[in-house]
Amino acid sequence: MLADRIDMPAERTEMGGYTLFENASLAARNTLRVDARAKLLAEVREAAKLPELLEFPAVRNGKLLVLGEGSNILFTGDFDGTVVAMATRGVHVEQDGDVARIAVAAGERWDDFVRWTLGQGFAGLENLILIPGTVGAAPIQNIGAYGTEVAEFIESVEAWDTLEQRVAILDRAACAFAYRDSVFKHQPGRYIVTAVRFALPRSRELRLDYAGIREELARMGVDKPAPFHVAEAVVHLRTRKLPDPAVIGNAGSFFKNPIVDASVGEALKDAHPELAAWPGSDGRWKLSAAWLIEASGFKGQREGDAGISNRHALVLVNHGHATGPQLWAFAQRVIEGVQAKFGVRLEPEPVVITAG
Ligand code: EPU
Repeated sequence: MLADRIDMPAERTEMGGYTLFENASLAARNTLRVDARAKLLAEVREAAKLPELLEFPAVRNGKLLVLGEGSNILFTGDFDGTVVAMATRGVHVEQDGDVARIAVAAGERWDDFVRWTLGQGFAGLENLILIPGTVGAAPIQNIGAYGTEVAEFIESVEAWDTLEQRVAILDRAACAFAYRDSVFKHQPGRYIVTAVRFALPRSRELRLDYAGIREELARMGVDKPAPFHVAEAVVHLRTRKLPDPAVIGNAGSFFKNPIVDASVGEALKDAHPELAAWPGSDGRWKLSAAWLIEASGFKGQREGDAGISNRHALVLVNHGHATGPQLWAFAQRVIEGVQAKFGVRLEPEPVVITAG
């Protein structure tokens, strides 16, 4: 039915500071473009209204899911609870010597914020340009790219703690950041991130060692790079390598790079000298999931409209009308295929929401 496929709320209620939609389509709210529905959707423009919203019996007694731009999520069915979409805005800067302390509302777009910091002459986030999603989502999976993780620049995260029913300020240690991981992933539904506080320097030693950046800067004819040059190089690299979610549905890397014991890494490297793998500081090895997937023959493969990008083997794509279960089934095929060939079990990077 056409009416089911378009973003048409059955019931819309303005509450002042937030808007409620009943039986809302999420099709335009997830970059994999899965046509799922939420029993209730709350679009929140004022974080201070969260306690009021969460007091509604229908909200309090049901499941909760916080959504930013939906660029790191796969719905495999409808969500039988309340989706809270943070649409708060605002950036507040305090200059502290050479460091800027910046508090940013959760609903701001990450890439807009990165560009704004570069325009203000602040360094640090240049390697993280063009990552889809909101500022509030950035700490959840500790977004990272080209040798930088956002955790380095986060001083604290402000959130509404649904368990303790109060505003919580989590400093960097409390956030328990790790590779694509944080406390927010381990206690899903507990915290609703309302703002992120960053500390950004005016200058820093630029991270140019990640494969491709120096070559790109050379191609651009830049020999003394400033942060905005690095950002431009990253934009070129990402645009070449990663499919644009505005053009083809995807959620960036769908699989995490697996971390394995050194003995496993060494044995695999002996058997497959071309395997892309990096010994980590903790003695364990990080393997390139993209390499494992490509070597298992999945790059560019599809089944119906669900497939793996022909540009980058880590990216699950929706060629048109794939459903959540079809995308998830294809991802499972990839996981099984890699496990059968290399004995390594890949894990999905995005949040996977199962029906119910
Ligand atoms: N490779 C392949 N086939 C491919 C693509 C890559 O074999 O189709 C191999 C190559 O050997 C390449 C290596 O994988 O040298 C690494 O590839 P790439 O530099 O693209 O990085 P990645 O490890 O695959 C990670 C992040 C990306 C991030 C890039 C750049 C994860 C899960 N992904 O990918 O993050 O942009 O590094 O820093 O850590 C995301 O999280 O959504 C994301 C896109």
